[in-house]
Amino acid sequence: MKQLVLSLQQKYGMFKLNYDSVYEAACLLDDSPDKLAWAKKWAEEYKNRDITTCRDIELPESDGTLLGDMLPLFVLLPSVEDMVAQYEKRGLRDSMDLDQIDGCISAVEKRIGRVGINRRYFDWLSNYLKCRLFRCGVFRVEVGTHKRPALVLRHCCTGRYEVMMTAGTFHRSGNMLGSAGCTDTEGSFEADFCETDDEYRGHLAKDGLVSPQYVTLPKSEWEVYIKPQDDMLSLHIPKGVRLTRENIRSSVKAARETVKKAYPEWDIKAVGCYSWLLNPQLSGILGEDSNISVFGSSFVRWPVKTDGMDVFGFVFPQTHGGYHTLPENTRLERSLKKLYTDGGYILNTAGILIE
Ligand SMILES: CC(C)(COP(=O)(O)OP(=O)(O)OC[C@H]1O[C@@H](n2cnc3c(N)ncnc32)[C@H](O)[C@@H]1OP(=O)(O)O)[C@@H](O)C(=O)NCCC(=O)NCCS
Repeated sequence: MKQLVLSLQQKYGMFKLNYDSVYEAACLLDDSPDKLAWAKKWAEEYKNRDITTCRDIELPESDGTLLGDMLPLFVLLPSVEDMVAQYEKRGLRDSMDLDQIDGCISAVEKRIGRVGINRRYFDWLSNYLKCRLFRCGVFRVEVGTHKRPALVLRHCCTGRYEVMMTAGTFHRSGNMLGSAGCTDTEGSFEADFCETDDEYRGHLAKDGLVSPQYVTLPKSEWEVYIKPQDDMLSLHIPKGVRLTRENIRSSVKAARETVKKAYPEWDIKAVGCYSWLLNPQLSGILGEDSNISVFGSSFVRWPVKTDGMDVFGFVFPQTHGGYHTLPENTRLERSLKKLYTDGGYILNTAGILIE
């Protein structure tokens, strides 16, 4: 593996931050026959799997050593040349982020104090290694399918969107039962979705919350905008970008055009996002005109099951000495510090962009 690390570094300069650690781990791996055999076996498997089944690869629990923490990386690295070839074939060489692997190693260090690759980043990096993610405007755009239980309908005359949940159990607040702060079952309800020849029946989500009211929407008036398993683009938001209306619009337009050329086999129905940034509470905290609120309100939104901890990493440091020690430099930090200290959460929310 050390030869592979050396050659990737020489060819692409892939590890600007963590080269020494990666090289040391590769040397340790070359001297550990059992671990080397494991890495080679799964690297070969990984090459032949599609992105969904890559997520099924079981990663060994780290023993807390450098090699233990880094082992999953050596399943990924032998696919880097294939990845570059795939991006080149699709004409996306310049939209590929070769430094993502290095960035993920550092992100793990921020989280646990030691460099490595864990499950979360292994799965994230698969988007790159399987050529499903490219940079476009202010976003990173993922080509994939709509996996969440939400049917998005559009009114034939008015163009209004509605989200009907096709599965799930909901807390009386309208969030998913089991999300942070939403665990008691009193007043909870099921999606009970039903489609007949003429109607859709179920519960609608509005501004990220599902209503207990059971409604019927006639097919004569409502057309399917996107249904589960349809092809879609997902937006990922890099740190520090400017989420103005114009940037959102032009980036999505460019992404749709790029996908038509680079991924002609995909029939993209809609553009979606899953993030803490979509939580409608943020408009109340930051005001309707803040960039985050503008971005969030550009989507029709529904709740997802979440632990409410993504702001640790995206807003606050991942490791801290308790909520009372969190920084208060910005309006968002001040409000969220109070919210979490008082026992509240910002739950991740999913949505489909209104275009
Ligand atoms: C997306 C992002 C660029 C938006 O930032 P923005 O353009 O400043 O957003 P807003 O204009 O709505 O900000 C309103 C207030 O919140 C603050 N704020 C916004 N995002 C913040 C963050 N991540 N950390 C701390 N404060 C933040 C702003 O500084 C501003 O406060 P101020 O007026 O006191 O300066 C920013 O949140 C970010 O970089 N996030 C990290 C990436 C991320 O979360 N991706 C999604 C992963 S699922």
